[in-house]
Amino acid sequence: MSSVHIRLHNPLTPPLNLRRPFRRSSFANACLNVEVEAENSNALRLDSSKLGLAKEVMEAEAKVLVGTYARAPVVLASGKGCKLYDVEGREYLDLSSGIAVNSLGHGDEDWLKAVVEQAGTLTHVSNMYYSIPQIELANRLVAASFADRVFFSNSGTEANEAAIKFARKFQRHSNPDAKEPATEFICFSNCFHGRTMGALALTSKEHYRSPFEPVMPGVTFVEYRNIQATKELIQRGKTAAVFVEPIQGEGGIYSATKEFLQFLRSACDDAGALLVFDEFMLAFQWEASKMLDYLDAIHIVFSSFPFLSSLSE
Ligand SMILES: Cc1ncc(COP(=O)(O)O)c(C=O)c1O
Repeated sequence: MSSVHIRLHNPLTPPLNLRRPFRRSSFANACLNVEVEAENSNALRLDSSKLGLAKEVMEAEAKVLVGTYARAPVVLASGKGCKLYDVEGREYLDLSSGIAVNSLGHGDEDWLKAVVEQAGTLTHVSNMYYSIPQIELANRLVAASFADRVFFSNSGTEANEAAIKFARKFQRHSNPDAKEPATEFICFSNCFHGRTMGALALTSKEHYRSPFEPVMPGVTFVEYRNIQATKELIQRGKTAAVFVEPIQGEGGIYSATKEFLQFLRSACDDAGALLVFDEFMLAFQWEASKMLDYLDAIHIVFSSFPFLSSLSE
């Protein structure tokens, strides 16, 4: 046995921002990757014939891939549900789920069936033509959220690029007589919105931005959850949009307060600015969003693999 399964009997703490409490208690299941001396060594999952393979793979990668990520020294080979297995046979509990996007886990039967069926029916047809699945999916997203239209993209960063463009276009369109419509953006400390040039400009960490400067100008960072400091910055004719993560992930798990989000909603309304929710970390929790009536401008849902989308009203 190389793993220990644990059921935590303490109910999970519900999110603070929900108007309605969870209907039933939730419990967490977890397992630990611990090496346990087994009487019969054949019972261990570790495959001794493959020891050393991980090192070989890491060395091979260094020769052919651009080194943009500082990876953990683990080479993953397969997964099932919340479990992962490396090339040498160790078992892990997947606590990051592809950075909060594999909501269904690995190899989910229904998801697999749907993907195989669609792949065998029609593959990519480009945006030059209509296709029914896109409309069906958009219909379901609209029905499940506040939004009345959807923009599909391939990544979270692209969804944010779209939101930047929507905000600029919205300002131009809603202020046709303005000499210079509002073009600036407000974001928060510890925020992360992506790696393409626009989304990068909205990302607070200096070390992500500095190698690529100059990035898009007109972005101001202010302390997350600081209502007073943010109030002074949101200005009519200047601020095109405020981007906020209701739950931040990159700088640690920080949650906005209900008061802060409600303040942003009304300050943006007063200034004619859009409020953009980057909900990467909230994927598949739209029920929560539906309960929040201050959410009504552009609402980005970086939902779960395999699709990412921007929802707008
Ligand atoms: C809050 C947030 N926004 C945007 C992104 C960018 O998404 P992607 O990596 O799909 O471009 C991430 C990625 O982790 C994220 O955490």
